[in-house]
Amino acid sequence: MTEIATASYDVIVCGSGVAGLSAAVRMASAHDRALKVCIITKGELSQSATTWAQGGVAAVLGGDEDSTDLHLADTLAAGAGLCDTDAVRVLVDEGPICVRELIELGAEFDRESSGSLSLAREGGHSRARVVHAGGAATGYEVERALVEATRSSASKIYEDVFALDLLVADGRCQGVSVRLADGTIEEVRARHTVLATGGVGQLYWVTTNPAEATGDGLAMALRAGVAVADVEFMQFHPTALHHPAMPRPLLSEALRGHGALLRDGSGQQFVDELAPRDVVSRAMAKTMAAEGSDHLWLDATGLEEFDLRFPNLAASLAEIGIDPGTEWIPIAPAAHHLAGGIITDLDGATSLPGLWAAGEVACSGVHGANRLASNSLLEGMVFGARVAEQILADNTGPDATGVMRPLLDAPGGVGTVTLEVPAPLGLDQLTGDGEGSVPELRSWLQRAMTTGAGVVRSAASMAEAAQVLAELDATLAAHGRLEPAWLELANLVTVGQALLAAATARAESRGNHVRAEYDGTDEAWRVRQVLTTTPR
Ligand code: SIN
Repeated sequence: MTEIATASYDVIVCGSGVAGLSAAVRMASAHDRALKVCIITKGELSQSATTWAQGGVAAVLGGDEDSTDLHLADTLAAGAGLCDTDAVRVLVDEGPICVRELIELGAEFDRESSGSLSLAREGGHSRARVVHAGGAATGYEVERALVEATRSSASKIYEDVFALDLLVADGRCQGVSVRLADGTIEEVRARHTVLATGGVGQLYWVTTNPAEATGDGLAMALRAGVAVADVEFMQFHPTALHHPAMPRPLLSEALRGHGALLRDGSGQQFVDELAPRDVVSRAMAKTMAAEGSDHLWLDATGLEEFDLRFPNLAASLAEIGIDPGTEWIPIAPAAHHLAGGIITDLDGATSLPGLWAAGEVACSGVHGANRLASNSLLEGMVFGARVAEQILADNTGPDATGVMRPLLDAPGGVGTVTLEVPAPLGLDQLTGDGEGSVPELRSWLQRAMTTGAGVVRSAASMAEAAQVLAELDATLAAHGRLEPAWLELANLVTVGQALLAAATARAESRGNHVRAEYDGTDEAWRVRQVLTTTPR
């Protein structure tokens, strides 16, 4: 047995982005009651989607013209009728406190010459309330501060360790099984397990998410039968650079907040640049289809001091020879953020006692059908902290029946979608011969999802994607091995199947979910779809 299996911890945190590290630092450095916390991450500690986040953190920290009520109203409007109002209230009320705590921890946000925090406006926000760092390098600074605090407080950081599955016994989560870098499989046990493993952007060929965003935590939850919802709501960011680089370099929404314009092929504006993201991406898809083009244009030529304000964006544009002061920038939507995930209550408790979730892997109800810009780092901070407080109090979440508060006060209530899921990895899964090229299989999946379940999807396009995923399932059964690339592929197939099942069932267009056959929302569909899993 290796050290990881014999060591004893109070809490395991899987994932090292803003949600996981916010929780870990709080638990590991609580005065008089600090817990023994270990972090498990499949890469290096600072490798997370948080590091890539640009725009900032939306929080009401500024002048009299803004209020948390306005932030709440903007979030609910963007969420297209599916937000949980109580969860959004928590988000907007506790967000400013979390930002101040992060500043105390050492994060440096951009400031005006007066010393006050510089606040930007982004799509869907009625006020300028987005704090940012390095212009559009906010996630990098947030992660830097949290990584530093984690390194000095956590009991142990396990890097290059791949979490395989949840260990469930006596109706409780007991920890996780893991694959170590040398291929050894072990079990790590703790009284509490926190999933903060981020999103699923790698389901798509064109994405802003890093290569690690393979839905590992979500797939673990699905295989363990933990309640999951809203996974049809994949958000597509309107302004990713149209360029072969992957992940697609993002051109922060803050650019539009500062006055950059969207133009079609003939140079005309075609949508309100500061509309919520789903509205803009949908208008772009329609315009591109009408033009028969694969990109449109972002005109930032009117922005003053582009290089000074957005040094990281200026540098990545310079690398490909674009001068934003004189040229329009080619753009197209790219998969960016999953609104749904593991259902949690207001404290991050899941339907499985002892298991907690926070950040993009969770469905806390704050995003509904479409996330408001710059509410995601915020969600990670707020709900990471709330999870930590519950664990510090040694609460266990819902009782063994898994009964949780309803997440939505909607006429349609809750719908269910059933999904067959594979047995836990490492038991009877992925014992194949390893034959085949995993990168090729992954790109096959990504292209099928991009064509089949992209900005606009139909029953027919999703059926074609589902067929590809079924074939990949058969390939995994024959050839898959317990190696990181195969494990990620297996997780992508599982979360892709969940997304397709939920999106196929939802017979309307709402927020990020746009069905070619259904124009507009249907009040009868103001329903949160919960996935019910059955083992294969
Ligand atoms: C952006 O800077 O446009 C991305 C921020 C976000 O996804 O909220």
